[in-house]
Amino acid sequence: MMPQMPQPTFYIFKCEQSAPPGMPKPSCVNEQTQDLFNYLAQSLMQKGIMGPVQAIRTSCLGRCQMGPVMMVEPGHYMYSNLSKEKIDKIVQEHIIGGTPVQEYLIPEQFWGEPINLAQ
Ligand code: FES
Repeated sequence: MMPQMPQPTFYIFKCEQSAPPGMPKPSCVNEQTQDLFNYLAQSLMQKGIMGPVQAIRTSCLGRCQMGPVMMVEPGHYMYSNLSKEKIDKIVQEHIIGGTPVQEYLIPEQFWGEPINLAQ
């Protein structure tokens, strides 16, 4: 029998979209923010929680005005305006501690209730 493989505890989807040079539209990755994914990955590695926590690079998550953003699943927790300091606190309090960091979540007017697709 195959040994049981636990599902990940968390997925962290980090937007890694950058706008082409000269594009006026904001995007999550620019010169100032380009090392945030590596910072997150290293932090998970140092804490020995890579595996149960999966950090995934994604393209645009549709909240470019609020970037850099990343979404923590389960729960659809969208964190906005990220910095290294915020990532530290999110890893410590949400990922390890289990309590989302409310003050770093995207403001409610940008993250309303999902539309119900059922007829
Ligand atoms: S570029 Fe990151 S949400 Fe659009």
